[in-house]
Amino acid sequence: MTSDDLLARHRAVLPSWMPLYYAEPIELVSGSGRRVTDAQGRTYLDFFGGVLTNMIGYDIPEIREAVERQLRTGIVHSSTLYLIRQQVELAEKIARLSGIPDARVFFTNSGTEANEAALLVATNHRRSHQILAVRNSYHGRSYAAMGVTGNRSWTASALNPLQVAWLHSGERLRGLLARLDESDRIDAAVEDLREVLATQTAGDVACLIAEPIQGVGGFVAPPDGLFAAWKKVLDEHGILLISDEVQTGWGRTGEHFWGYQAHDVTPDLLTFAKGVGNGFALAGVVGRADVLESVPAISFSTFGGNPISTAAGNAVLDYLRDHDLQANAARTGAILADGLRAAVAGLDCVAEVRGKGLMLGVEFVRPGGTEPDPALTTRVFEACRAGGLLAGKGGLHGNVLRMGPPLTLTEDEAREGLAILVDAIRSCASAEVAA
Ligand SMILES: Cc1ncc(COP(=O)(O)O)c(C=O)c1O
Repeated sequence: MTSDDLLARHRAVLPSWMPLYYAEPIELVSGSGRRVTDAQGRTYLDFFGGVLTNMIGYDIPEIREAVERQLRTGIVHSSTLYLIRQQVELAEKIARLSGIPDARVFFTNSGTEANEAALLVATNHRRSHQILAVRNSYHGRSYAAMGVTGNRSWTASALNPLQVAWLHSGERLRGLLARLDESDRIDAAVEDLREVLATQTAGDVACLIAEPIQGVGGFVAPPDGLFAAWKKVLDEHGILLISDEVQTGWGRTGEHFWGYQAHDVTPDLLTFAKGVGNGFALAGVVGRADVLESVPAISFSTFGGNPISTAAGNAVLDYLRDHDLQANAARTGAILADGLRAAVAGLDCVAEVRGKGLMLGVEFVRPGGTEPDPALTTRVFEACRAGGLLAGKGGLHGNVLRMGPPLTLTEDEAREGLAILVDAIRSCASAEVAA
């Protein structure tokens, strides 16, 4: 209970389809580093970072000071009708980092709008509204972004401005391609792509949009190299590839700066959001100039790339590079992944510990098979909170515990969080066996 019954007030005035975590929801009132404190004064180690968004952590002086410097100028907003120094500087950095040649950047306020913009330019460039999307994906909550989202729980409407055909994701555990080895899964996914193109489209498809690791979908990854194998087929038809890097970008996977780099391919368009603002509303799309310039009318975003959010974004990227947080994600992610895998060995309620760097999921199933166990997942999730650790939940069946801590996580914090996770998993699993 919050002291002034904030929960009742929330429920009275905010929509019920916007869910709250935990049987007893939490109000976070302060944060520092990787820790947050709730209204009751209880402090938690945060392994979810506001859904992978507080990428550097809480109350980081370099970011706070950059934003305060901009605030002190008196210009919080000017509109993109005027030159914005912070925006140009950030676009230069992102264009350089993107790996896309001759890149242009368009800033938005959210990942949803970034994907909308990517779909707008792809459909205009190709003069087609036929799109390929991937099962179990999540790309946002607007009609077009929802229309390419392959997850029933997040599909609130059948209205769709696009004509969408669905590909198998190449995931290991579920679906028609499950349990094939890595290279057979790539071959089968490519065969699926060819078949979908031949049977479900009218030719002239605009693009394929895909996440290198599915975030909301439960940190499900296709085999490394699948995007390159897909792209060979896409190139035969001139179809563009959009990599949705909203969760996988900025070094979170440890091994690479972008998720797409695990696939040995360069996308035509890349969308980003979440972590780059460290909590400030900042997102966008990067693409080859000839593709991004394919907008035949005026288009702008009132708040997209505003001076405050881009001041934060510049400070975030500088911090990220100065502290080599990609290497830190690889180091601390390995502590978590190795520790979790060792701890769950022999537990038949855990189907898989998966992910890369600081993007790790644990999938819970009924013992002896792959039937999802969302109830056990919720018990583990609540037990983590009781132990002082905030984690996330996800997956098509709500049976994946998700960890996406700030990339500044220290090795000691990784071990501290691991101990809480392992306790929570073991105690809930043994209660399940006893029941
Ligand atoms: C991969 C991916 N794309 C797009 C979005 C939508 O971003 P936003 O919530 O900022 O609109 C999300 C949000 O979780 C996401 O995970």
